[in-house]
This record gives sequence, structure tokens and C-alpha cells, in this order.
Amino acid sequence: MCIDYNKENILKEIESKIIGRNVLFFEKIKSTNDYVKEFFYELDHGTVVIARSQTKGRGRRGVSWENGKNDSIFMSILLKQKLKNNDVLNLSHICSLSVLNVVKQLDKDINIKIKWPNDIVIGDKKVCGILTECICNDKNTALVLGIGINVKNRRFSEKIENKATSLYMNDIDVDMCKVVARVLENVEKNYYSYLQYGFKFFIDDYRKNCCNIDNDVVIINDSEKIIGKVIDINIDGSLKFKDKLGVISDVHSNEVSVRGLMGYV
Ligand code: BTN
Repeated sequence: MCIDYNKENILKEIESKIIGRNVLFFEKIKSTNDYVKEFFYELDHGTVVIARSQTKGRGRRGVSWENGKNDSIFMSILLKQKLKNNDVLNLSHICSLSVLNVVKQLDKDINIKIKWPNDIVIGDKKVCGILTECICNDKNTALVLGIGINVKNRRFSEKIENKATSLYMNDIDVDMCKVVARVLENVEKNYYSYLQYGFKFFIDDYRKNCCNIDNDVVIINDSEKIIGKVIDINIDGSLKFKDKLGVISDVHSNEVSVRGLMGYV
């Protein structure tokens, strides 16, 4: 039986205690991340904003995130906390591990991986993107974990059809309410483990599931493109990278794109 994707059915599924205790569900919104950022004073820690569709969904590095209605999950989680070094990067990683584990529980043989920092790909196509943003002012710091998961999409626009996939396209036909609930439960469990033990608790799992290690890549940031090789993921979640001249550096920013070399050499 197909369960309708609405707030009532999502709430029936959720078993997490703090993340998802408050759920706001919108039929249409500009961007769930923007909503959380705008109203965060009024929202409790752990509030989750979900939208059936977004009119101005945002991705990392200023790109837009494709809208879909009734076929994709668009949600943002508010974490009200003091921010330490690397929290943005590490919590993005933890969020991607949480989504990855949910999908693996639906199909244990699926070829799903994390592309550093936090894209989730099935084969070489993206099924989930995560946009983590800080809210920092004189009095408060908080973090928004924005998660976009392609669940029931049967096709994508021409612009992204070669790069995007959905769970449905990989023979996973699942209720969106259940996916939302399982992701929130996993994020909750992992978030509190992170607060207690730090990212080192997750590093083995992250390395095991990361598709970039040992790969030749090009790293793209605002001003340059650097060709080299990913050597490892460091214990703090940053990327250990060796450029063509053999210079080794650590990449901490999650505002870069790590791509395969096709088209660059
Ligand atoms: C990326 O891979 O570039 C990140 C995409 C993040 C998309 C999600 S959808 C819900 C939330 N609201 C937004 O505007 N963006 C994130």
C-alpha cells in the first residue's frame, strides 16, 4: 500500500526523540534551508522543516537544486549548538553516512558511496545532496543540515539526467515517509555519538564508504582547478590530496567539488 506523503504520516513513522520532535511540513516553499535560517529564533533544536516542493532549492557552491513534486525529499534539520572547528564538515559527513545507511538497509547490495565531502552516489550518479549552513551572530550559533534525496523520480531534466538518479531508478520503491523517518532516526543516533566521541568514531565507516580514496581527481574551488590524487580521508574528516607536483595538502572546506578527471586530461 502506498502511504500519502504528508505530515501526519511522517509523524506516525518517526521514532527519534529530539530530531523530528517538531516537524513543519510545507506544500511549497522557497527553500527549507532558507526557512530555518529565517525563523531559527522561534524554532527549537531538532526542528525539521520538510517541503513537498521547493521553488528556489539551493545546492552547494551556489548552484540550484532541482525541484520535484511528490518524488523527492527536501528537508532541513536545525541543530542549535555551539560550533567547534570542523563541525560543519563533520556533521555533513555524518549526515551523509546516515542517509547512506538508510539506503543500504533498503538494499544491502546496492553500489552506493559517498563522494567527499558529502554527495551520495549510486554508481556514478547522485541520489542525495547535503547543504550544511551555519547561523552565527553575536548571541547564537546553529547549524542547518539541508538534505535532498531523490526517491521516486522517474526522470530528470536534460541538464542533470546524466548526473542524477533516484532510489526508484535503482529498483527501490519505498514510501517517502519511511525514508524521512529512518533518516531522522539515524541522524539523531549519529549526532549524539558525534557529540560524545567526535568524528574519530565514524572515520572507519566513512573511509569504507568513500569512493574518492586513491582516485585521480580535479578539485574545483571558487578560483582554481587543481588536478591530483586523493590519498586518504584524515581522522578529522578533511581530504588528504596530492597535486601533480607531489605537494600534499589537506582540504577542509566543504565548498569545493571533487570530480573525476574525465574531460580534464
Ligand atoms: C548539493 O549537493 O549541492 C546540496 C543539495 C542540497 C539540497 C537540499 S534540498 C533541502 C535543502 N533546502 C535547500 O534549499 N537545499 C537543501
